[in-house]
Amino acid sequence: MARYELVKRSVALITLTNPPVNALSSAVRHGIAKTMERALSDPKVTAVVICGENGRFCGGADIREFAGPLRGPPLVPLLDLIEAGEKPVVAAIEGVALGGGLELALVCHYRIAHFKARLGLPEVTLGILPAAGGTQRLPRLIGIPAALELITTGRHVSAQEALKLGIVDQVTEQNACEVAVEFALRAIAKPLSSRRLSSLTTPCPPNLDALLEAVTMQIQKKARGVMAPLACVQAVRAAATMPYSQGIKRESELMATLFHSGQARALQYCFFAERTAGKWTLPSGAQWNDTKPREIRSAAVIGLGTMGRGIAVSLARVGIPVIAVESDKKLLETGRQMVIGMLERDAKRRGVSASLNLLKFTLSLEDLKDVDLVIEAVFEDMALKKSVFRELSKVCRPATLLCTNTSGLDVDALAGVTDRPQLVIGMHFFSPAHVMKLLEVVCGPRSSSETVATAMSLGKRMGKVSVAVGNCPGFVGNRMLKPYSDQASFLLEEGATPEQIDKALEDFGFAMGVFRMSDLAGLDVGWRVRKESGLTGPDVDPKNPPRWRQGRKYCPIPDMVCEQGRFGQKTGRGWYVYDKPGGTNAKPDPLIQNLLETYRSRYGIKPRNITDQEIIERCLFALANEGFRILEDGIAARPEDIDVIYLFGYGFPRHRGGPMFYASMVGLQRVLERLEHYHQAHPDVPHLEPSPLLKKLVACGSPPVQKWREHIKTMHSHL
Ligand code: CAA
Ligand code: NAI
Repeated sequence: MARYELVKRSVALITLTNPPVNALSSAVRHGIAKTMERALSDPKVTAVVICGENGRFCGGADIREFAGPLRGPPLVPLLDLIEAGEKPVVAAIEGVALGGGLELALVCHYRIAHFKARLGLPEVTLGILPAAGGTQRLPRLIGIPAALELITTGRHVSAQEALKLGIVDQVTEQNACEVAVEFALRAIAKPLSSRRLSSLTTPCPPNLDALLEAVTMQIQKKARGVMAPLACVQAVRAAATMPYSQGIKRESELMATLFHSGQARALQYCFFAERTAGKWTLPSGAQWNDTKPREIRSAAVIGLGTMGRGIAVSLARVGIPVIAVESDKKLLETGRQMVIGMLERDAKRRGVSASLNLLKFTLSLEDLKDVDLVIEAVFEDMALKKSVFRELSKVCRPATLLCTNTSGLDVDALAGVTDRPQLVIGMHFFSPAHVMKLLEVVCGPRSSSETVATAMSLGKRMGKVSVAVGNCPGFVGNRMLKPYSDQASFLLEEGATPEQIDKALEDFGFAMGVFRMSDLAGLDVGWRVRKESGLTGPDVDPKNPPRWRQGRKYCPIPDMVCEQGRFGQKTGRGWYVYDKPGGTNAKPDPLIQNLLETYRSRYGIKPRNITDQEIIERCLFALANEGFRILEDGIAARPEDIDVIYLFGYGFPRHRGGPMFYASMVGLQRVLERLEHYHQAHPDVPHLEPSPLLKKLVACGSPPVQKWREHIKTMHSHL
């Protein structure tokens, strides 16, 4: 796990060997301890270089080991030993030096980085802090403000930035290991005392308290209720105000409070869930690691509205030539200007030049005859989409993949109007498409494994977190959203206000509550869908009871809001009132209060006090309950996929892990009991009836979320 060689006759080269990222597992720590001991005790050895195998220095602690008891040598004394040694130790950083990996580099007396390397202390993103001296050594090396920023955000820096900050001593374009060996030879005679970071005094800014206060406030505003960044601030304060020996104790105490917290478990679960989500399997047995994706050398986007523009930008910025299609000249010109503007701003932000030459704009589908892949993003109208797919089927060469960005329509129905149903698939982006990281890849029953692999790989190339899901109305994300937002509407009927519900959800950790979010997205979108599905509007049978549709309880308040022309931020009024159309500063509106009071008195509803706990339970347990049904139906392959969709597409707070992980943390037994309780109180709301899978899992002793798959694998899979 750590290889030992003697090079240039007197340099001990220690190579960490734990692919893929040379994480500091117990075996690697053991290997470092043994090889360091050998290097320090061998009189032939005058200097040491530490590097990582396969061009990767070290990705930090082995996160998989966090769940079990500590085995092998603990890291802190091991690092202290390296720093205290009397022979110069040089870190040769290639690839990554992250977390414990950077902490290992910080105890080396010198650091050489390859110009492509990335360095950082990302522990905070895992709900913990750099507890192998990172919070104490980094501030001593680069000062409080810079260290505070890196430690509280977990941001990775490039080798060049690391050099500027003073984290590394040299950046090289050559083999970092060879450069480090030469460097080590030159360092032999030099004194080491000033290179031992733990012995330095932290350079302290005069306004320390004000700085720490400002950062704390910033964190509290941005990451409501998240503990780790606040603990990081306290640890850095200790580096500024205490001697090293006390600071390191403080670091360890703070780590002890975080290490076993629910937040740390949730965040570490998210890390692995994100990586698991890309690993799809189809009922045929084909899967991610045995199916080759097609290479996509050109693409087309149809419809340059809200979604099409962002999709075109996402494709062009990764170097894929795009032909964009609109339905008339004026819309084409507007779309063209928007896409160019977006691409230019994006390139400016990333410090690269905009690839405008990759874009072509046309009114004719005929121009798409040679592209490798088409993404349709016209209005959400099945008849229109079918006509577009029929036309594409005629004009595109037989091998062209045809994708739809529909947010919930039947992908297989679209496949059915083409001559190549196996090449049809959903690529469901989220708005704004060039910003949001999520892509639901909707696999129809006839989508081939190669088509799935291609859509997933294209998603990855565009920097998206792609999740393969089955084909059903709303797929995973939007299907689950319905019971969640329905509960919010029912709570309004019963006595809550939009601001009370939003506050409860925002205190839980959502960036925006359900009403604020709907105002941002536009209320008319859902209203149109409800009208089309006969839930509201002229198609509703007048004999239909007022709060009852299609055999279940229905809340017409969202329709009433739209009937008043209140479509959200864009009209300056929605669930809230804004200073002007397009404004973002939401204020509670007495007119909404009146509307709710009138509504309640019309239907004889006596408003009651509703607690935040009830809001959270009804909204989030209904959300998870639908997730269980989705797993049962085989629309998502595993709970991790659902959680990743909610984390990246719907702003579910990461430190809660996602709706399914959250349900497991609350306890499945408790979720079941509360759903039963609410369903008894609202028997006409089927979404509150506990799903059979939830009951089954409880009956099996509520296994942890990673084991649920064992209980659903016999069920039918649409994937
Ligand atoms: N521990 C365990 N497994 C790890 C790991 C780690 N630190 N880092 C990566 N892996 C695993 C991934 O789960 C993945 O496994 P599968 O192939 O089974 O899915 C595999 O390594 C490859 O990872 P990626 O797909 O993420 O590869 P990448 O090339 O896209 O990214 C990376 C590489 C930038 C190192 C990224 O994996 C990463 O950010 N890793 C985590 C780094 C980190 O947070 N380190 C801090 C750990 S905590 C710590 O160090 C505490 C301390 O004080 C000692
Ligand atoms: P939009 O109304 O903003 O844009 C649709 C565009 O398609 C319009 O510019 C229209 O002129 C164009 N168009 C219509 N018929 C066309 C044709 N025959 N040929 C070429 N262009 C044509 O709609 P939006 O919001 O971009 O939605 C597009 C699709 O994306 C819909 O299926 C929607 O459900 C889906 N979607 C929307 C999301 C959103 O948040 N807006 C999120 C995810 C998916």
